[in-house]
Amino acid sequence: MNVVKNISEDLQGCQDAALLNDWHVVGFSTDVTPGDLVAVTLMERDLVLWRATDGQVHAWDDLCIHRGARLSKGFVRNDTVICPYHGWTYDGCGTCILIPAAPGEKPMKKARAITHHVHERYGFIWVCTGTPARDIPVFPEWDDPAYQKVNCGPYRFRSGYRAVENFMDPSHFPFVHAGVNGIYDNPDPIPPYEVEETADGLFTSEVRVTQPYGDPRQVPVIAYYAYKCFRPLVAYFKKRLIISDPARQHEGNEADRFCTYLTAQIVDEQTSIIRICCATNFDPQPTVEDVRRRQDLVYAQDAAIVDTQRPERIPVDLRQELHHRSDLLGQKYRAWIKGMGITYGVY
Ligand code: FES
Ligand SMILES: [Fe+2]
Repeated sequence: MNVVKNISEDLQGCQDAALLNDWHVVGFSTDVTPGDLVAVTLMERDLVLWRATDGQVHAWDDLCIHRGARLSKGFVRNDTVICPYHGWTYDGCGTCILIPAAPGEKPMKKARAITHHVHERYGFIWVCTGTPARDIPVFPEWDDPAYQKVNCGPYRFRSGYRAVENFMDPSHFPFVHAGVNGIYDNPDPIPPYEVEETADGLFTSEVRVTQPYGDPRQVPVIAYYAYKCFRPLVAYFKKRLIISDPARQHEGNEADRFCTYLTAQIVDEQTSIIRICCATNFDPQPTVEDVRRRQDLVYAQDAAIVDTQRPERIPVDLRQELHHRSDLLGQKYRAWIKGMGITYGVY
C-alpha cells in the first residue's frame, strides 16, 4: 500500500483530469519570501509554499507524513522545512533527512513531503498538482519593454468560472461599471462578434464600447476589446484605445493598448481568488497606484454582482439560463469547459 498516495487522494476535492493537470495560480511571487511558510488552498487541497535561499519556490501538501500536522505551522531553517510537531526535517527535494527522536538513523524512504510542480511567471506562483499537460499560457506583452506591467489583486469572488466569464462580458459595463467602463443612460449595443476556438483557447474579434474612464488615465475612450480565454481559469484581453476626450486635454497614440491577464485560483467550488496583471504602453505611463486604484474599484463592482449569481456553480448545460447573441463568448466558454470534462465547480 502506498501510504503517501492514499493520504493525498483523501484530501483532494477535485477529480477532473483537465483541472488537475493544468497550471493554477496560488499567489503572487511577492507573497513568499525566504524563511516564510505560506498556507494556500487549491481545489480544497491544502498546500504550503516556501522559498529557498536560491530563490526557488516549493509547493508541497501542507501535511507531514508522520502524523499529518500542518507543515505551514513549522519553520524554515537552512533550506529545510521542520515540522512543528516532532521536528521531522525535510530538504528542498521533500526528503526527510532527520527524525530528531532518532538522530543517528537514516529516515525511511517513505518519509517524504508530497511535492508538486511549481513555476513563477508574470509575477504569479503557478502550481500543478497532477502532471502538467501543457505550458503556462503566454502573456503576449510580458517580454515587451514598451509595456509597463502591474500586478493587481487579490480579489475574492465566489465562483472562479463566473468571475472569468464576467471578465469576458462587455455587455455588463454600463450597469456594473456605470461612469467607468460604460454609460448607464446610453448603453452600447454589442455588435455581432466572432469567437474562434483554437488549440490555445477561445479568441474573439474586436468589440467596440464607449468608456468614460476606460483606463488608468481617467479620460473618456472608445475601446475595442479582443478577448482570449486561454484556459478555463486564465483569460486575457487586449484593448485598443482611442481617446475621445472632447477637451483634448490628453492626446492619445494609435498604438495605445491596455491589456489584462487574469487568473482564478479555485479554492473550493464556491470560493475563488482573482489575480491580474495589467500591461499598458501609454506615454506617459500611469503610476502603479493609479492602475491599482482603478482595478480595485472595477473588481469590487464586479464581485458585488457576480457573487449574487445563482446557482453559485456555473451551469455548463446551455439549456440552463438564457443566452443571447451578445453572450456568444460566455456560451462558447461554458460549452468548452463542459467538453473538457470539467465537473468541479460547475453545475
Ligand atoms: S507530525 Fe510532523 S513530525 Fe510528527
Ligand atoms: Fe466587470
